[in-house]
Parts: sequence; structure tokens; C-alpha cells
Amino acid sequence: DKGNFEHFMLKEIYEQPISIEDTFRGRIAMDHSKIFLGGISDVMPQLSQARRIIIAACGTSWHAGIVGEYLFEEFARIPVEVEYASEFRYRNPIINEDDVIIAISQSGETADTLAAIKMAKEHGATIIGICNVAGSSIPRETHAGVYTHAGVEIGVASTKAFTSQVTVLTMMALLLGKTKGHLKDSVYKELINELTQVPDKIRAILKAETDIKQIADTYKDANNALYLGRGFLFPVALEGALKLKEISYIHAEGYPAAEMKHGPIALIDENMPVFVLATKDKSYEKIVSNIQEVKARNGKVIAIVTEGDEVIKKMADHVIEVPDCHEAIAPLLTCVPLQFISYHIAVMRGCNVDQPRNLAKSVTVE
Ligand code: F6R
Repeated sequence: DKGNFEHFMLKEIYEQPISIEDTFRGRIAMDHSKIFLGGISDVMPQLSQARRIIIAACGTSWHAGIVGEYLFEEFARIPVEVEYASEFRYRNPIINEDDVIIAISQSGETADTLAAIKMAKEHGATIIGICNVAGSSIPRETHAGVYTHAGVEIGVASTKAFTSQVTVLTMMALLLGKTKGHLKDSVYKELINELTQVPDKIRAILKAETDIKQIADTYKDANNALYLGRGFLFPVALEGALKLKEISYIHAEGYPAAEMKHGPIALIDENMPVFVLATKDKSYEKIVSNIQEVKARNGKVIAIVTEGDEVIKKMADHVIEVPDCHEAIAPLLTCVPLQFISYHIAVMRGCNVDQPRNLAKSVTVE
């Protein structure tokens, strides 16, 4: 049931404050001092001693995996590789018994992801699932796992499942960082606190829908779009681009912002909208330079910035503000305006938002 919403995708975008709360329900202590992940407690020894973590997934779940890579390396200091399940399984990968494989899948049915974990299991690795659909095939093959509890996602373009996957990965990385002694108790608690503020911060972003819709209107006829981000926001750039292509059929590419000068910059002219993830973090100065590079070539810049940013406001064609947060939390906030952009552009172009052509919600073919 879509309730008062025109499409499931829009409903699911709006559900995110609740779906994220559902993801951490019962997993974060009331006083924000601790994280409990019952589903992986049995494999905590393997996880905290893992020589490396391999994340296997497809599509949007793969993007969540890259956020996971940055989180695990930052907080838990465990090397991570993020693999397209389809490439991983077919290339005779090196898998050891002290590797932990994390499969991320909304549906829990993606054929390549399922086959990848079956193979890794045969090599003796520990397999953990981060899935949304309870009782689906992937959770049945894993040794342990954490359900995302985002609720049923009907729109083919994944929105709330993505933010719940990132929420689980953040909780896992913090818990591991604490267990391994890399995170000071004060930092651990501060980050848990930040995480619990995400639903309210997303509520604030949802209020900007009308303004974001106007930006969508300005760029709805574009033939191409670029999405740029650095650090934790690089995977958000990939996800923003995927969301636009799959539902509006506009060609879009996501790049680490610094890679722009190695090729994509040649594409920039006055017809190219460039979405830049530019919240205040340690690469802020660098991203400001990237925006200048785009403007110097007459590209149109739509920047996602931290509330109150005055510097980028002067340079960009449009800014969309998100509440201030720790840089590790920023993917959860900055992806939301990009979901709105794709949704509104697709609706304005008359596309079937919930059932885009050629796509299926669950990809059970290899
Ligand atoms: C994009 C999208 C797909 C899925 C991919 C993996 O919006 O929905 O890219 O993310 O097919 O699906 P799951 O997560 O079910 O394994």
C-alpha cells in the first residue's frame, strides 16, 4: 500500500527515519554506551581476528559495501576488499580460513552473491550476511548475520534498504573497533550518539523536498550527469549516479572527485550537471578545488553541503544543505537528497519509477 504517496519509491524515501530506527532497535543501549549485535556474537572471535574482510555484493548493496570498507578500515583497522560478487566468484579468488566474507543483499536472493558465499564457505571462510528479507536464501547459507529490518522494499530502486545496510555496517565497524581496542570509549560513545541522531537529521532533509524538486526541474532534460565525492562520500556519488540512470534513463557516472582530472573532466561543458558531495570533512578543501575546476569549464554544480556553508554557496549553481555530522555518518544523510533528485527527474520525464524498464527487484539469474 502506497498510502498517500504517488509511488513506493517516494514512500520508501520518507520511511528512512523509521527504517533506520528499526535497524538499530534493540541493538544500541538506551544510554548510547554500547552496541549489541546478537546475530554475529558467535562469530565475533573470527571477525575480530580476521586477516581481512571481503565484502561481496551487487549494485546498490555493493555501494553500501564500499562505505563499509571505509568504516572497517577507519575504526576497526581490518583490511577490506569489496568485490562485485559476479567477478569474485568466477576468478578463482584467494580465500583463506581466517578471512571473513560479508555478503550484503536486500533481497537475499541475488544469484551471484549467493554463489560467491557458497564458494567462500567451501574454502573454510566465515560467512556473514547483511540482508533485508528474513529467511531468504543468502541468510540460510551464512554462519551468522545481521538483518537490516528496513521493512519490505517494493520500489525497484533501492533507497531505505541502502541506508539500513550502511547503518548495520556502521554499527559493526564501531563494535569491532571497540572490541579490538582501536576506538577510545569516548569516541565510540560519541559515534553511537551521532548514529542515533540520523533519523532526526533525515527528517530535516526530507523537509527540503520542494526545493530539491526545483533543482530536478532545472536538470530534467540533461543527457548526462556526473557525481563526485571523496572518502566516505565516494560511494554515495556512485549510488547517486546509479539511482539516476536506473529510473530516469539519463546517463550518469559517479567518480572519486580527484579522478575527474584523469578523464571525465573532458566531458564538462555548460550542459553537464555535476552533483558534488561537499560536506565538511577532512577533504573539504580538496572538494572546493574540484568545484572550482568544474566551474572554470562552465559545468553546472549542484553541491550537497553542510548546513551554513557559505563558501560553496558562492561558487555552486545550487546547494542542498544537510545537518552537520561526523564524516563517517555523512553517507546516511547525503544520499537522501540524491534519491529525491532521481525520483523527481524520473517522474518529470514520465518514467515508471517503481518498475523501471529491464530491471527486476531480485536478480536471480547469473
Ligand atoms: C539498485 C538496485 C540493484 C540492487 C542489486 C542487488 O537500486 O536495486 O542494483 O541493489 O540488484 O540486489 P540485492 O541487494 O537484493 O542483492
